[in-house]
Amino acid sequence: MATGSGAADGEALAGGMMNAGAVLRRGALVERPAPRTAPALHVYLRALAERGFDAAPSPVRLTGDGREQLTWVPGDVALPPFPGWAMTKTALRSVGSLLRRLHEASAAVPVDSRAEWPRALADPEGGTMLCHNDVCPENVVFRDGRAAALIDFDLAAPGRPLWDLAMTARYWVPMLDPESAASLYPAGLDAPARLRVLADGYGLSPRERAELPSVVEAATASCRAFVAGRVAAGDPEYGRVLAERGGWQRWDRVQGWLVNHRETFTAALLT
Ligand SMILES: Nc1ncnc2c1ncn2[C@@H]1O[C@H](COP(=O)(O)OP(=O)(O)O)[C@@H](O)[C@H]1O
Ligand SMILES: [Mg+2]
Repeated sequence: MATGSGAADGEALAGGMMNAGAVLRRGALVERPAPRTAPALHVYLRALAERGFDAAPSPVRLTGDGREQLTWVPGDVALPPFPGWAMTKTALRSVGSLLRRLHEASAAVPVDSRAEWPRALADPEGGTMLCHNDVCPENVVFRDGRAAALIDFDLAAPGRPLWDLAMTARYWVPMLDPESAASLYPAGLDAPARLRVLADGYGLSPRERAELPSVVEAATASCRAFVAGRVAAGDPEYGRVLAERGGWQRWDRVQGWLVNHRETFTAALLT
């Protein structure tokens, strides 16, 4: 979606918060601020492609001025308020299976231990493989109603695949009480049933199904701490979105709802 800049500068892309207004499309390329880990991420993305994972942008180059170029991935990206086509069961299942494909490829790529992987939304337990950590609708490209590619690896860090799936569930189920979900998602989404669809699409093991609800709770607490950090640092975009979406009260409500429904989610996942 274009938000204004002239063609010579490229077209500013909507959908991001961390790099709002700074991600530009120039024909077949996307140019964006390079995260600190960009050199290691480019190596990682090339290694994924060598292992047959074709569902991510290809890195093209780092520019001299702190930006990076990647290939533009054709398709549709759902932006809030999320449209019905992005929230079908087929879409959800496809997000699960795409994440599984990423993890299978990623498990075979050695993690660059010299890179300073961001800790913000990473698995506090750490891990031996790189996870995406930010598989929100704005970071998934769809074609024909199915998830076709993951973009925006800025928050990638070592972790457990289960943590990545929990983060993904937060955004795609979504793991929100109905009142909190109402402003962003179509009405009537059945969270326990959808968590099951995502886990099935991923092919989650029984042992990890039993753990998933509590890992979602931990991931939610990490996200809250991340937002608190951005707001405390004076980030205007995060401050605005926090206020617009009901402030800290909303986070309290979501966290209470997750705890109250833990057993319901476990039953939906295991029966
Ligand atoms: N390689 C790409 N292919 C297609 N669309 C992209 C690509 N990179 C970014 N976009 C679009 O631009 C938006 C913002 O880019 P993103 O890199 O996710 O920014 P941010 O870091 O701010 O989240 C995305 O939500 C998506 O719509
Ligand atoms: Mg993004």
